[in-house]
Amino acid sequence: MKKTEKKINVAIDGPSGAGKSTLAKALAKKLGINYVDTGAIYRTVGYAAFEAGIDPSDREAVTKMLEGITVEVKFEDSVQQMYLNGRPLGDLIRRHEISDYASRVSAIPEVRAFLLETQRETARNGGTIMDGRDIGTVILPDADVKIFLSASVEKRAERRYKELIERGDSRPYEDVLADIRERDERDSSRDTAPLRPADDAVFFDNSEIGLDESVEVALEIIKSKTRRRGKRCGKR
Ligand code: DC
Repeated sequence: MKKTEKKINVAIDGPSGAGKSTLAKALAKKLGINYVDTGAIYRTVGYAAFEAGIDPSDREAVTKMLEGITVEVKFEDSVQQMYLNGRPLGDLIRRHEISDYASRVSAIPEVRAFLLETQRETARNGGTIMDGRDIGTVILPDADVKIFLSASVEKRAERRYKELIERGDSRPYEDVLADIRERDERDSSRDTAPLRPADDAVFFDNSEIGLDESVEVALEIIKSKTRRRGKRCGKR
């Protein structure tokens, strides 16, 4: 791969369970760039509220909490690790109740402002593929490639349900589906940075295809976008 191709920034946005992180991880490996999971960053703030016994929807209390915490993203063997107040959180942020806490704190404007630089900083040292909800619109508006990844709500619930079973969590499918519907509604109806595609994002619905094919489609999108961008910049 040419050196210039390694420096690209790719933004992948979309709703919960669309497979953004699985796809982004596979793409990062193929392209030799870092993968940044911004959901994990919001989960860290959600975890901080959970641990402190703070209502994640209480804007004032959460905003006050921000004054006393530090959130850091580190890459250990190219794998993202979240640190809260200097302590690595590992899989604690993946707990079921933390999904709800993260979704609630992420609707608070002060939380989004608090995490803005942390997210941008991760993309400063070269190529990055970052996934989230407002990467193409707010965090990296100049990203070389923006993909809006989605799938039907039933497919997304099915995938999340299987994932939970693998982790030993046997919640009924109907509960998982209801949770995803609720998070979709909250993530897209909030006033601050609601989930919406960037004007220049490429839509990609992967309901009917598996990971390998999704990677191929996404690589094609990345190739065609970077080729076009290169031409506009006068490169060959
Ligand atoms: O992708 P995830 O499920 O790990 O994200 C957890 C929550 O964080 C999700 O409900 C929405 C929120 N989030 C956000 O608001 N903006 C981002 N860039 C990433 C996640």
